[in-house]
Formats: sequence, structure tokens, C-alpha cells
Amino acid sequence: MLRTLNLAQRTMKLPKLFASLLPLCLSAPATRLSVPSGPYNVGFTQHIFNHTTPNDPTPGPGNIFLTSIYYPTRSTPLPNTSVPYFDPTSAVIWGDVFNILASDLMSLETTLQWQAPLLSEEEDIEKVKSWPTLVFSPGGGMNAGYFTSLLSDIASRGYTVLSLDHPGEAPYLQLPYGNPGVVGWDIYMPYTDSLIVEMYEYRRAEMLALLGPDGFPALVELYGAYFNTQEFGAFGHSIGAATATGAMDRLDSIVAGFNIDGGLFGDSVNASMIGRPYFMTMNPNHFASDPDTWIPFTERYANESKKEGGWLDWTTVEGSAHLAFSDISLWVELLPKIENATEKVNLGNVTGTRMDEILKKYVRSFWEWVSCGQYDEKLLDGEEEAWPEVVFNAKIRSNEHGTEV
Ligand SMILES: *[C@@H]1O[C@H](CO)[C@@H](O)[C@H](O)[C@H]1NC(C)=O
Ligand SMILES: *[C@@H]1O[C@H](CO)[C@@H](O)[C@H](O)[C@H]1NC(C)=O
Ligand SMILES: *[C@@H]1O[C@H](CO)[C@@H](O)[C@H](O)[C@H]1NC(C)=O
Ligand SMILES: *[C@@H]1O[C@H](CO)[C@@H](O)[C@H](O)[C@H]1NC(C)=O
Ligand SMILES: *[C@@H]1O[C@H](CO)[C@@H](O)[C@H](O)[C@H]1NC(C)=O
Ligand SMILES: *[C@@H]1O[C@H](CO)[C@@H](O)[C@H](O)[C@H]1NC(C)=O
Repeated sequence: MLRTLNLAQRTMKLPKLFASLLPLCLSAPATRLSVPSGPYNVGFTQHIFNHTTPNDPTPGPGNIFLTSIYYPTRSTPLPNTSVPYFDPTSAVIWGDVFNILASDLMSLETTLQWQAPLLSEEEDIEKVKSWPTLVFSPGGGMNAGYFTSLLSDIASRGYTVLSLDHPGEAPYLQLPYGNPGVVGWDIYMPYTDSLIVEMYEYRRAEMLALLGPDGFPALVELYGAYFNTQEFGAFGHSIGAATATGAMDRLDSIVAGFNIDGGLFGDSVNASMIGRPYFMTMNPNHFASDPDTWIPFTERYANESKKEGGWLDWTTVEGSAHLAFSDISLWVELLPKIENATEKVNLGNVTGTRMDEILKKYVRSFWEWVSCGQYDEKLLDGEEEAWPEVVFNAKIRSNEHGTEV
């Protein structure tokens, strides 16, 4: 979550850089995120669900949430169907934090195609139908779109991926279909511990509503689509990972979870996985910011797995930092920096493209193993020469032959 940005308060708000004054039309040449690794291209659509958040602490309306759907398509990307990465309002806000001109952020291009046709080959459809639909919750204060590289990559492998945004939490959220965008909390908004628990709770409620009968399954039925509405996988970054874990605790149809550098806030610390596969990856400073949640969670998982079976990996990406587990480190690497501006956020010393590769590789290997049993065996079972940044802290494997920790 963007908790790290609170540190910026100590250095006081820096004078607004001139970024916001520059006309956006002086745009730089387009910069593309890397092409997704899978055999499919990626379609994209969004849906606004009505859902009440009682006493919503954010400035948002409290009666809706936004879901974005990333799905495999055979349609070829055309310039006029490409989904923009940034909206102009967010580009100014985020550019200011990361010392990038808004016009440069606006030059980022996705490979997503707005409402591209679904698959039509029977063989393709069977695969997409049989793999779990994955649901993703972003870091606190971040738009889910800032994980586009990861989410596109997974969808290109044959997954349907849903992401969630709670309007009012991020500084600005653009809404589709001509609805007005939602102005949220200031980007330097300090989150107290009790506020974090409130955020966890409304996010968890939204994830459960999305996966419940009136959410995604009803939408799929309405449009006669073939997506899997019986089995899900849940993952997230930072508080989004707590959200995924708390949702798993309450919903047996979530078959596995992936935690990207997320402390286990609220009651997610006590979530019962009942042997379901769970992958955790963190930055080396995770313990300093979250000393109390992962160790007892892992111990309890190991205890449970003696009865229930279990599979857990816990890795650290050496040299990484919390916000580098998102597209942010790609923006910073790929786009020009405003000269001599003071760096406000530490993104670690692994480059953006490398972090992007690492995250995509481990996340997709995990989901491919969960869905079809196929994976790069060595990758999930310990350190590998090709990925020296990734070290293993714990591994739990339990089956009828006993538990190995
Ligand atoms: C959500 O509520 C609004 C107004 O309350 C209504 O117009 C809209 O149709 C509802 N949307 C859905 C998807 O039910
Ligand atoms: C995009 O352009 C192609 C031709 O280049 C055209 O056939 C298609 O209708 C356009 N799509 C949209 C959504 O405008
Ligand atoms: C987690 O479980 C422990 C032990 O039962 C309990 O003391 C604690 O209050 C629980 N925490 C939350 C946030 O529910
Ligand atoms: C796990 O089991 C051991 C041995 O039964 C017990 O001492 C320990 O408290 C348990 N830990 C958790 C977190 O449940
Ligand atoms: C980069 O990260 C590694 C691993 O955490 C660390 O050993 C090294 O000192 C870091 N280098 C710099 C220049 O910060
Ligand atoms: C940035 O700093 C360098 C070295 O101090 C200086 O030569 C240069 O003029 C500065 N550029 C701007 C745009 O202030």
C-alpha cells in the first residue's frame, strides 16, 4: 500500500513541480509496456457494480465499486481499440510523486483492447472455462490499472482476470461509460491503523460481492459469456493481498491465493486456508513494516496442513521495495525523469523491467500449476540460477506422506 508515501510528509510537501502546467498535447512518443507472454491477445472491459459501503471512510460515493475484466482474445490489437493507460488527472498526481511529466505518463500505451471479441474456438473456450477466474485487489491508494503489465500477462496465458477499485480510495478514479471520475483521498493521506482495517473490510466485502451470485456470475449469465464462475483464485498487492486472504477465509470457491508484499490486516491474519495453495513474496524490509503477521500466519498454516494437507511458498525479492511490485518501477525506468527533482519514494535497486519479469514469472507459474498442474517445477520449489534475486524463506509441502517445512 502507499503507506510508504506517508514518509513524504516528513520531508514536507515539496513545491509543486511544473508538470501540471504543461499542456498535455505536447505528448512524447508512445511508450509500450512489454508484450504479454501468452498465446492470446487481451481484451478489456469494465463494469460498475452497485454495492453499499456503510459509513464509507473515503470521499467516494459509497454505493458502487468498479471491476475491470482482462480476458483472452484472438483479436489483433489496432491503434483505435487500445485502452489508454493513464487518464489526464491521475497522470498529473502520480507524475508529481515520481518526478515524471504528466505528458510522459500519458504516452504509456497498453496492449489491451477495449471490448474485443471473446474466443470462439471450442478448444480455447474449454481451457478458459476450466481454469479459475482470478480476482486481484491493488495496493492501498493505488488504481488497479497500475498493475496492468502483470494482469495483461496473466490474461494472455488464458485466464480471465478481474480487478477491483473502490472509488474514493485512490486520488482519482476514472469511470467508464461517461460517468464522472471520482476524486478520492489525497495521495499523501496518512492511514491510521484503524483506517487500514476499515479499508480492508470494505475491500473484502466488495471482493465477496463480486464473486457472489449477484456479482460476476450474474454478469456472465446476462452476457452469455463462458467465463468460470465456479472456481476462483485471489491475489493482491499490499492491503490487496490481505483482502484476497480474508476473502479466501470466507469463500471455499477460492482455490488458492497469492500475496504480493502484503501485511495481513484485520482478521485476515487469522484466515484459515484449509490446505489451499498460498504463495507469499516480499521486499527485504517487509518485516520492519509488518513484524507481526506473516510468521504466525505461516506457523498456523503449517499446523493446519498437518491435518488438511498444504502447499505454501514464502520468498523475498532481494533488492526490491514495496512499490516496485507494481508498474510504477516500469514508469520510472521507461520514461524520462524530471531533471534534478528530489526522489520521494524508494523503489529498491532491481530495475523496473526486471521486477516486471520476476513478478510475472512467479505469479503465472503459480496459477498455471494451480490450474493445470503444469509448471516449471524448480521455480516454485527453491532458488534458481536464472532468478538470483528470489530467495526462499519457507516452503510447506504436506500430503499423505507427511509435512515438510
Ligand atoms: C445501479 O443503480 C442505479 C441507480 O440507483 C441504476 O440506475 C443502475 O441501473 C444500477 N446498476 C446496476 C448494474 O444494477
Ligand atoms: C478501428 O479501425 C478499423 C479499421 O482500421 C475499423 O474497422 C474499426 O471499426 C475501428 N474500430 C473502432 C472501435 O473504432
Ligand atoms: C486472531 O486470533 C487470535 C487468537 O485466537 C485472537 O487473539 C485475535 O484477536 C485475532 N485477531 C483478529 C484481528 O481477529
Ligand atoms: C502450532 O502448533 C504448535 C505445536 O502444537 C503450537 O505450539 C503452536 O502454538 C501452534 N502455532 C500456531 C500459530 O497456531
Ligand atoms: C541492492 O540490493 C542488494 C540486496 O538487498 C544489496 O545487497 C545491495 O547492497 C543493494 N545495492 C544498492 C546499491 O543499494
Ligand atoms: C541539474 O543539476 C546540474 C548539476 O548541478 C546542473 O548543471 C543543471 O543545470 C541542473 N538542471 C536543471 C534543469 O536545473
